[in-house]
Amino acid sequence: MTPPESISLARGAPSLDIVAVDDLRGAADRAFSQDPAGAFAYGTSAGYGPLVEWIAGRQGVAPDQIVATNGSMQADAFLFRLLVSPGDLVVVEAPSYDRTLLALRDLGAEILAIPLEEDGIDVDALEQALEGGARPKLAHIIPNFHNPAGCTLSLDKRRRLVGLAESYDFVLFEDDPYVELRFEGEPEPTMLSLDSADRVVYASSFSKTVCPGIRVGYLAGPTDVIAQIRRMATATYISPSMVSQSIVAEFCNSGAIERSIETVKNALRERRDVLCAALRRDLPDARFVVPEGGYFLWVELPEGSDATALAERAKELGVVFVKGADFLLEGGENAFRIAYSGVRADQIDEAVTRLAAAWRDLTPA
Ligand SMILES: Cc1ncc(COP(=O)(O)O)c(C=O)c1O
Repeated sequence: MTPPESISLARGAPSLDIVAVDDLRGAADRAFSQDPAGAFAYGTSAGYGPLVEWIAGRQGVAPDQIVATNGSMQADAFLFRLLVSPGDLVVVEAPSYDRTLLALRDLGAEILAIPLEEDGIDVDALEQALEGGARPKLAHIIPNFHNPAGCTLSLDKRRRLVGLAESYDFVLFEDDPYVELRFEGEPEPTMLSLDSADRVVYASSFSKTVCPGIRVGYLAGPTDVIAQIRRMATATYISPSMVSQSIVAEFCNSGAIERSIETVKNALRERRDVLCAALRRDLPDARFVVPEGGYFLWVELPEGSDATALAERAKELGVVFVKGADFLLEGGENAFRIAYSGVRADQIDEAVTRLAAAWRDLTPA
């Protein structure tokens, strides 16, 4: 028997049907004809001027507080390189984005992992560590629709984190690529906007609102930090892709981005709803927090369950996902991440049916 075509719940990427291909083609056409000199030159490491201005307006900061990069991963890498030396203590959330953990480990950082709760990082635990003498250089926080945990940081915790960064003099790195993808409820203010002591550096991206292949992201933060990162960027690649950034600038300024965000949100809300209903129906042992937006849902199975074995069996049955331990330095053996961004709603039921069959195979009645 031929195995069924695999359904991937593994990749944090959008399916092609929610990428605004026609609007992107139009934006490219206009960008290239209206400003060929800007689009096709090297430009500067700050980024394409009209895009930098659009981002500054959106974030309520001055243009010299922005550096636009080739994806926000590049921005993260610059910030980490600027701030983190071997042996420096860095706070991360547990679980956290796997690429962040790898990047920090490669730089020789000492990592202090603080658990996540339903409303974001356990700020009491962080405060206790600080009172106990921990002196981090940096704390990495994913505030909205967390990757991988799906949770969102409460307003109270945002305020407390900004206060702790000021009192204990560390940089709060607000890594926020999913902010625009809220399905319901009121948006919370960014920690960047709550900060009056220049302790917050904010990152976001057009990967989730335009498309990941365009590779445009940015940092917003204190002028001196941004100036240093612009210098690092010049030394690294002269300038980011002006072709990409000019297209994104036109996409934003023409209003296409608001349409794109609506399309993405409507599709992902439906996928989230189908997924949650299917999990409740077919996998009642699964515990999860319903994400209010974004790409991801984090599943916890009963203590002692083996998500690695589940992933292996599920793969044989034609569904793949990332096991929880990949997002943690230790633990997470009973957890896994589902990305519902890359699958159509009609594939999700089938994916969960296969997942539940794999679970039954591992846990005979
Ligand atoms: C928390 C987080 N930070 C950064 C990134 C990188 O995004 P970009 O495509 O802008 O490099 C991602 C992508 O999945 C992410 O989830």
